[in-house]
Amino acid sequence: MTTAETGRAVGPGLDRVDAPLKVTGAALYPNDVSWPGMAHAALVRSTVAAGRVLDIDVAPARRAPGVLAAVTHLNAPRLARGPRPPMIGAPPAPLQDDRVLHHGQHLGIVVAESPEQARHAARLVRVEYEPAEAVLDLDDARAELLVDPWGLDTEHGDVDAGFARSDVVVEETYTTPDNTNNPLGLMTTVASWQGGLLTVQDSTQWPSNVRTTLAAVFGVPESRVRVLAPFVGGGFGAGLRVWSHVLLTVLAAREAGRPVKLVLTRPEMFTSVGHRPRTVQRVRVGATRDGTLVAVEHDSVAPVAMDDDNVEPVSHSSTFSYACRGIRTRDRQARLTVPSPGSMRAPAEAQGNFALETAIDEVAHALGMDPLAFRLHNHADDHPLLGLPWSSKALKECYRLGAERFGWSRRTPEPGSLRDGRDLVGYGVAGVCYPFIQFPCQARVSVLGDGSAHVRSAATDIGTGTYTVMTQLAAELLGLDVGRVRFDPGDSDLPYAPPAGGSGLTGALGNAVHAACRRLVRDFCDLVRDDAASPLLGAAPEEVAVAGGRLHRVGDPGRGESYADILARHGLAELGADGRSAPPRAEDLGMAPAGAFGAKFVEVRVDAELRLLRVARVVSVVDGGRILNEKTATSQIVGGTVGGIGQALFEDTVTDPVTGRIANATFGDYLVPVHADVPDMEVLFVGGPDRASATGTKGIGEIGLVGVAAAVGNAVFHATGRRVRSLPITVEQLL
Ligand code: MOS
Repeated sequence: MTTAETGRAVGPGLDRVDAPLKVTGAALYPNDVSWPGMAHAALVRSTVAAGRVLDIDVAPARRAPGVLAAVTHLNAPRLARGPRPPMIGAPPAPLQDDRVLHHGQHLGIVVAESPEQARHAARLVRVEYEPAEAVLDLDDARAELLVDPWGLDTEHGDVDAGFARSDVVVEETYTTPDNTNNPLGLMTTVASWQGGLLTVQDSTQWPSNVRTTLAAVFGVPESRVRVLAPFVGGGFGAGLRVWSHVLLTVLAAREAGRPVKLVLTRPEMFTSVGHRPRTVQRVRVGATRDGTLVAVEHDSVAPVAMDDDNVEPVSHSSTFSYACRGIRTRDRQARLTVPSPGSMRAPAEAQGNFALETAIDEVAHALGMDPLAFRLHNHADDHPLLGLPWSSKALKECYRLGAERFGWSRRTPEPGSLRDGRDLVGYGVAGVCYPFIQFPCQARVSVLGDGSAHVRSAATDIGTGTYTVMTQLAAELLGLDVGRVRFDPGDSDLPYAPPAGGSGLTGALGNAVHAACRRLVRDFCDLVRDDAASPLLGAAPEEVAVAGGRLHRVGDPGRGESYADILARHGLAELGADGRSAPPRAEDLGMAPAGAFGAKFVEVRVDAELRLLRVARVVSVVDGGRILNEKTATSQIVGGTVGGIGQALFEDTVTDPVTGRIANATFGDYLVPVHADVPDMEVLFVGGPDRASATGTKGIGEIGLVGVAAAVGNAVFHATGRRVRSLPITVEQLL
């Protein structure tokens, strides 16, 4: 559907505006970039998990054909450590000493004329180690424990009194494994130093941060660094941080005096760009006989790499998911000699929700209550910690509509009681309360002489639809056809943007674009207010509306004139305005800024004898605030749900317990859902514009994944009576 057909820029499923560029191959992904004189790099990686490099001999590599440079810790310059954004932090600068902190650590980079020559030469580098004992397990007593570095532990109400008066207490341990982000696009950096100007094209979700980091690490002014990322081959969180390979490519380009390109191999992706950290979680939930939750305690332990600081507040959403008078959460991180964990779609929530929503199901079962009724009974009408109303919340509607579409009423309470031929059938549900995450953002919007508009920001579109929804939003706010708006992101020289992450970009950038468009329309009003030649002479901004590329008097579409005419008469080539947005604060709003809410309904089928397990149906209902584009939004939820099925049934990054090597670092060995594993999925949106956001949106980039694993597990319990508390849920666990 196009705007012309609907008359609306925002809402219906406009096709992606960048689709033609992508399907014709005109969109330049980092992998496609080729700059004049460009050389190619390959990495040397550690084959031990801990210890020291006693010697590293690059002489054979240097003698190999085509080799231009080789950098190791022996000849690397001192690099500063970049800024550490809250929570995600920053990995250490590479090649600064002889320490080996994990298997697969980058120990050197080799530059050659061709990728093949670089890879060949990298294999010739001889490394001699003094190995040390690896620390690979969360329960290893030698592991240093980080205690609440960001002050997020929560103690609310009298938790112990709550447990004391509970009639039913469930206390269980839930475990989730390491999962690895695998964006299809192998992460790539291309770097060039020319005339003191560093230009980088990168598979990043956050160009502004790459610029800031490179400037700090290499000691150059930010104004001399430009980071381009107009297209990114997927992200899922892997592109949030500035990883070692990015810094090494920039370093290699400086050493070689040539532009250099580095494309990570798939196995390198498993150790170089983060992964969802495994967790061990203890959840204790107490309820009274009438089905009222009175105490929730949620503890987690997850790994953090040596000398790194990525921290996931795994239990965080348990602080606001249910109305409960006693809530205690604690997250700890154990320092291990493992590759750096990092954000992977719905970091913390993906793991934490599995534990909480499984425990909630267990309590409902212990009380003999329907798990959906139990969730509704304990719905948090207000934010439990802040005691404030939510800026928006349609979770009850998610449950109601989802139950209706799914046919929840057909569920028979007894586990194992629903059968269809050979299949044991199970129905499971999980609720999702996604946190509100937003960052400051800026945008610039201009109307050009021909009356078209140009929107610019340093943001990226990692495949989520940012190109499209920002185009729609600006079109609506300026009264233009979508085809008359161009959105150019992906350049750090443009106004600052936060990461395409945390489900926060559409809100942050949308509100910045909103502010810029509003200001721009006001500026146009100011231009014509005293203009005797204008039909808008004397009109105050609030008396002016926009439509069809024109400003006109409210209620009188005939009395107005086009942007193009105004600019021409005033001798202006264009008129532009800047806009900025900042996250709203609960104390200013008098309400709790809400993230998205959702409900997942899942049907599983388990072969009664063979225990083969498959997901047969998923109904997702999401309160995402105002939906800017139903098509891209639905795709977000569908994609997230597939990721959730992966988390529930397949994904498991296996670390060899002796060597610390990732044992399944290929697409052949690391299982993800294929089409045969993915059923028809229904996606529904409920709720309306959020009051805390100028555009009314709430983030939906991650909520699609969250809740799937718990709903699958809860459905497996219903089908089989077997409670699986450890992901992924495999056939073996059901035998
Ligand atoms: Mo997302 S894991 O915040 O890119």
